[in-house]
Amino acid sequence: MANNLLQGKRGVVFGALDEKSIAWKVAERVVEEGAKITLTNAPVAMRFGEINKLGEKLHAEIIPADATSMDDLANLFTKSQEALGGKLDFVLHSIGMSLNVRKGKEYTDLNHEWMLKTFDISSISFHKMMQVLWKQEAMNDWGSILALTYIAAQRVFPDYNEMAESKALLESFARSFGYHFGTRNKVRVNTISQSPTMTTAGSGVKGFTEFLIMPINVAIGQCFSGGLC
Ligand SMILES: NC(=O)c1ccc[n+]([C@@H]2O[C@H](COP(=O)([O-])OP(=O)(O)OC[C@H]3O[C@@H](n4cnc5c(N)ncnc54)[C@H](O)[C@@H]3O)[C@@H](O)[C@H]2O)c1
Repeated sequence: MANNLLQGKRGVVFGALDEKSIAWKVAERVVEEGAKITLTNAPVAMRFGEINKLGEKLHAEIIPADATSMDDLANLFTKSQEALGGKLDFVLHSIGMSLNVRKGKEYTDLNHEWMLKTFDISSISFHKMMQVLWKQEAMNDWGSILALTYIAAQRVFPDYNEMAESKALLESFARSFGYHFGTRNKVRVNTISQSPTMTTAGSGVKGFTEFLIMPINVAIGQCFSGGLC
């Protein structure tokens, strides 16, 4: 049910690749609540994903940007403010990609060049994004910047691989930049921890399927054995 909670608010949503993407669902919900948004993703994702479908459905302009490129980010936030008619109230960073996970590398045998790329895409892009927003003074006071993290940033989850360090770095950027944005603009910077979800990024993580299936099996087992159901 929509309650116009975001009536008059403007935002940028990163990371909607297909209908399974977390950003896809967020984009649908914020528009349902009255927000106006632009959508963005890496140029390569425009070819493989279905973001155009979402753009048409939500009447949202799509502005391609590689989140590791400062030039692309500067263009994105300039054009977004033009398209939406003013400064931004919220930005969602819903980006993650690990080359080592994708190539099935074990944690004890990682390729460190790929690791740097993973950090750039999944974490440093968050700092880059905020630095561009900061320099352009693109955020309205009391706005909100949000990124998605995972509990493996703080606890051992062996199959999450180098994404664990990536999320730890992401969370640290949120705290540190949050100090500056909060002090200057009262803008809140947060990360929210998503539970395992079968998206393109999520399904690449070894162990997530078992993680999802296990509680269902346990619950079904309890039902059948006259347990908690
Ligand atoms: N799915 C899960 O179980 C889970 C759990 C915890 C956290 N998360 C986090 O949620 C966020 C969203 O992931 P998702 O699960 O929706 O998967 P997803 O694959 O749908 O989204 C990841 C997005 O990152 C984008 N991306 C990759 N490289 C990019 C680049 N260089 N520039 C711009 N965008 C780029 C992809 O195109 C894609 O749209 C990620 O930060 C992910 O780590 C997901």
